Amino acid sequence: MSDPISKVTVREYRFVGEEQEEEEGRDQRNPELLVLIPEVLNPHYGMYVWPCAVVLAQYVWFHRRLVRGKRILEIGAGVSLPGIVAAKCGAETILSDNAEFPQCLDNCQRSCQMNNLSGVHVMGLTWGHVSPTLLALPPVDIVLASDVFFEPADFEDILSTLHYLMEKNPHTQVWTTYQVRSADWSIEALLYKWELESIFVPLQSFEANKEQLAGSSLPGRHTIEMMIIRSIQAMKSDRLF
Ligand SMILES: C[S@@+](CC[C@H](N)C(=O)[O-])C[C@H]1O[C@@H](n2cnc3c(N)ncnc32)[C@H](O)[C@@H]1O
Repeated sequence: MSDPISKVTVREYRFVGEEQEEEEGRDQRNPELLVLIPEVLNPHYGMYVWPCAVVLAQYVWFHRRLVRGKRILEIGAGVSLPGIVAAKCGAETILSDNAEFPQCLDNCQRSCQMNNLSGVHVMGLTWGHVSPTLLALPPVDIVLASDVFFEPADFEDILSTLHYLMEKNPHTQVWTTYQVRSADWSIEALLYKWELESIFVPLQSFEANKEQLAGSSLPGRHTIEMMIIRSIQAMKSDRLF
């Protein structure tokens, strides 16, 4: 790992939930999950948990029965809170960040180690690049994308990568949270160009309309929103059958 361990601060995120009647076994009696996330004192984007991440992690936790057994890829994962929650809830999880940022990939590895997750794969995946690792990726059911839509110059690269993933599996869903930073922010035209559609998910629908989630001080007063992106073709065929 490239950062000395002395620079790492470990933060706790505790997810608790109502009993889920249909659920069997341990989760039903004890619906609680503690995740430890090592953050690095470094100004780089991907070295700590962003406000969007705790909201997306809450969505994953809230839908934990749905994610169990699914193949999930997190892109721009940084310290990977949503992906770690998915893995702890029984998803086959792949964490990824920019192939040119090895320190972010170190963070993904460190988050896995701290949560005793040995089966999680970590890979370099740079948005918009059709690399051998992207080509070799098996079809994924769900892509997690927390605060990746922050730099408009990257939006098309992200959507082209998502479009490629949907060519492997047209039913891939992209669960993404974003911070409202500018009124001009919009990906509508690009979604249309890449034959994708988005559905807005109200935060109250998964108990995330709070300033403090998972026992943390996040998301604070930031305005965070969530949407699910899917292929227009898959949506149309789902409506037909
Ligand atoms: C705002 S941070 C969000 C990190 C994390 N998802 C979270 O919400 O805590 C953006 C992340 O995108 C990654 N990133 C930036 N440019 C990228 C690119 N071109 N390809 C892949 N990942 C990229 C950064 O390394 C960083 O981890």
